[in-house]
Amino acid sequence: QAAEKGAYPFFMLKEIDEQATVARHLIKHYFVDGIPHIDAAILKSIKQADRLYIIAAGTSYHAGLIGRRFFEKWAGIPTEVHIASEFAYDHPLISKNPFFIFISQSGETADSIQVLEFVKKAHYASLTLANVMNSTLTRDVDFALPLLAGPEIAVASTKAYTAQIITQIILAAALAGGHTDLQGQLSRLAVDMQAVIDGKDHIKALADDYLVNADRAFYIGRGADADVTLEAALKLKEISYTLVEGFAAGELKHGTISLIEHGTPVIGLISQSKTAGLTRSNLEETIARGAKTMTIATKNLASANDEIILPELTGEMEMFGPILEAIPIQLLAYYTSLGRKLDVDHPRNLAKSVTVQ
Ligand code: G6P
Repeated sequence: QAAEKGAYPFFMLKEIDEQATVARHLIKHYFVDGIPHIDAAILKSIKQADRLYIIAAGTSYHAGLIGRRFFEKWAGIPTEVHIASEFAYDHPLISKNPFFIFISQSGETADSIQVLEFVKKAHYASLTLANVMNSTLTRDVDFALPLLAGPEIAVASTKAYTAQIITQIILAAALAGGHTDLQGQLSRLAVDMQAVIDGKDHIKALADDYLVNADRAFYIGRGADADVTLEAALKLKEISYTLVEGFAAGELKHGTISLIEHGTPVIGLISQSKTAGLTRSNLEETIARGAKTMTIATKNLASANDEIILPELTGEMEMFGPILEAIPIQLLAYYTSLGRKLDVDHPRNLAKSVTVQ
C-alpha cells in the first residue's frame, strides 16, 4: 500500500484528487454516442416500479439523498431513501411494485445485506450500485452497476461518494429517456471539479484558520445543500474528532442557534438559487451571535467576500451543486485532521467496511 500512495502523505488526499478522473471514467463507461446507456433490462424493471427505495449506510446513504432528487425530478418516480440499519427492523409501508436500489462502496455492509435478505424473500426487484464488484451486495441482487472509482483505501469515503452521485444521475437520465446534453454537462463538471481540487492550498489555510482549533462546528444549507451538510459533518467529525452537526439551515432557529458562541465556526453551503438568500440570512443570524462564518457558494450565487467560490452552475446544472461542494468539504476535513496531526486514513474506532449489524 505504501507504494500506491506515491507522493501523497495519505490515501484520502490521493482519493480526493482522483475525483475528476473518476467522473471521466463514468462518462466514458456509461455513454454511447452521447446518450446515457444502461442495460435495457434494468430500465425495464425500474420502469415497472411505482416507487424506488434506496437503501444504504454512512456516506453511501448521503449519496442516496442526492440521487433521490434526480430520480424524482428527471425520471418522475417517487423515491425514498433509507438508512439500512433502520429499514432492516422498522420498514415503512411498501408500495405495490417497489424497486430497491442498494448503494455501497464495499458491497459488504452487513446492515444493507440484511435488507437485501428481506428483499429477496419478498421477491422484490433490486439493483446495487457498488464500487467493489463481485461483493455480496452485487452478487445476490437482480442487477449491479459499477461505480468505477477504483480502490478506496482511506476509511473516510470521498471518491466513492461523488461516483455514487454521478452514477445515479446517469441512471435517472437513462430512465427519463436519454438526456442529450448530459454528457457535455458532466464533462464540463469534471473540468470544474479539477479546478476546485487545484484550489486546495486555499482550503488548507481556511481549515487552519477556522477548524483546527475549534471544538465544535456547524454546517448549514437548504435543499440539496442540506443533504451535503450531512456528509460534510460526517467527514469532519470522523477524521478530526470535532463535534460537528450538519442540518437544514431553517432548523437553526429551532435549537442549534443556542450553541453559537463567540468564534463558533458555521459553514454555509450555497448552490441552490431558490434558497440562497435564506441561507445567507441564516448565516447573518449566527454572525449576530458571534459565529465565525465561512460561505461556500457557486460563483453565480456568491458575493465577493465569500471564503470559497465554486465554479458557476446555472439552470439545470444547479442540481450538480453537491458534486462540487463535496470537494471543499472533504478537503476541510482532511486538512483539519492533518493540522491536528492525526492518522487521517485510520480514524480511531472506525472500519472501512462494517460487516457487523
Ligand atoms: C463505513 C465506512 C464509510 C461508509 C459506510 C458504508 O462506515 O467507514 O465510509 O460510508 O461504512 O459502507 P459501504 O461500503 O456500504 O458504502
